[in-house]
Amino acid sequence: MALKLAVEEVGKDFLIPVIDRVSFGVEAGEFVCLLGPNGCGKTTLLRIVGGLEPATRGRVTLDGEPIVAGQPHQHKVGVVFQEDRLLPWLTLEQNVALVLKPLGLGAAERAAIARRYLKISGLVGFEDYHPARVSGGMRQRTAIARALAIEPDVLLMDEPFGALDAQNRRIMQNEVRRIWRETGRTILFVTHAIEEAVAVGTTLVMLSARPARIRELIRNDGRTDRVKLIDDLNTMIMEEV
Ligand SMILES: Nc1ncnc2c1ncn2[C@@H]1O[C@H](COP(=O)(O)OP(=O)(O)OP(=O)(O)O)[C@@H](O)[C@H]1O
Ligand SMILES: [Mg+2]
Repeated sequence: MALKLAVEEVGKDFLIPVIDRVSFGVEAGEFVCLLGPNGCGKTTLLRIVGGLEPATRGRVTLDGEPIVAGQPHQHKVGVVFQEDRLLPWLTLEQNVALVLKPLGLGAAERAAIARRYLKISGLVGFEDYHPARVSGGMRQRTAIARALAIEPDVLLMDEPFGALDAQNRRIMQNEVRRIWRETGRTILFVTHAIEEAVAVGTTLVMLSARPARIRELIRNDGRTDRVKLIDDLNTMIMEEV
């Protein structure tokens, strides 16, 4: 199968080298988790993949098309950040519908699509609420609905549940897994929580300490014992800190 997303020898230097050289491929429909110690360059790598930050070396292609920061491309990339980044003066539905405007859809169609993705995200009945009137988990669900509504070729998520309490975090991990199954989207998900990566990802990419290289790429197909996998990954990350 052709690769959906190819990261080839990608590196980044700010004042110091942050990402050395990182290569991995993602097939359509995969759920890839990027793991690594604090400050190793996970967010930077995700931003490069999304075309939000130029790479110093290497290249990223989405369905064979190069993604270069500042240059237009044909593909749609959905992004969910650690904070929900909703506009407080708009309702949840209006927040989702807003991102559909550049796609040239009419108002009725935008509203219908927004409602559909709010429903997939478990927010039926809350469409007309403003962000301040719903919980943190619900705001994060809205951010996910907004990213999905454009029907992205790839969905990038940067520690999307980092601001949630443990219980909501667990709920959202199950939700994102279900949404992934229902929509078949290709997901690249950054986390430094090992249990979270093992709970949601089909492929786990463990990065080394800065400057990041790939420390290990693991297929999380359920055949490896979960407890052992979490243990091994914890040992690995401790060695990198
Ligand atoms: N715009 C920038 N200019 C200069 N240095 C930067 C910039 N963005 C990130 N860095 C540096 O790059 C390194 C990696 O940052 P990055 O945010 O990608 O790490 P991370 O793995 O996402 O960390 P965390 O686990 O804390 O989220 C850090 O040392 C950071 O200071
Ligand atoms: Mg980060």
